[in-house]
Amino acid sequence: MKIRIAPSLLASDFSRLADQIAQAEGGGADWFHLDVMDGHFVPNMTFGPLIVAAARKSTKLPLDTHLMIEGADGYLEAFRDAGADHIIVHQEACVHLNRTIARIKELGAQAGVALNPATPCSTLVEIISEVDLILLMSVNPGFGGQKFIEGTLRKLKELRSMISAAGRDIRVAVDGGIDASTAPAVVSAGADVLVAGTAIFRAPNIGQAVKDLRKSFAHLGSA
Ligand code: DX5
Ligand code: ZN
Repeated sequence: MKIRIAPSLLASDFSRLADQIAQAEGGGADWFHLDVMDGHFVPNMTFGPLIVAAARKSTKLPLDTHLMIEGADGYLEAFRDAGADHIIVHQEACVHLNRTIARIKELGAQAGVALNPATPCSTLVEIISEVDLILLMSVNPGFGGQKFIEGTLRKLKELRSMISAAGRDIRVAVDGGIDASTAPAVVSAGADVLVAGTAIFRAPNIGQAVKDLRKSFAHLGSA
């Protein structure tokens, strides 16, 4: 299975966004990940659809929009119009998750659900037949540069068996603390999308950092 690398723009230099995106793309990035934070669901604020639209102008690669916000339903269309290909909402922030997922698909985007580290995979049982992507947070959402939470590996394995039981092709992404030292275990445990911010955009050479991350799990035969 081809493993996708999704550089998280959170750690990039927004004054040179197009250039940073081009460098990561040059290194072999597959998707770009955009972290939207509202200061309520998570204790930090970032950006809204305007930055997604700016990224859209800078690349043709899929844009993965990670909504760490309350009341996501009111903004789905705006993010889709801005150019988001995948819209990911948090299980913990959506009371009517089934409706939210249906709406994302109706808008023509791929629908994803994110789980915080403390939220069990079993909370997805009733929605797994509807989603295209599941994102496991391997840090508590809100900030880049945090340490990878090891318990994510056990959750990944559990999620993989739930997905096989559901018999559907669902992407599994892991987000937080991913670098060349944590990526191999994450890939072995069943992730097929690696989201990485600090390890890519704070590296001396952005393109090389994408290549180095891919090299770290190449021996597993899925680079
Ligand atoms: C954290 C975000 C992540 C973040 C990851 O809330 O969801 O996407 O950018 O950053 P690193 O790779 O630095 O842990
Ligand atoms: Zn994220």
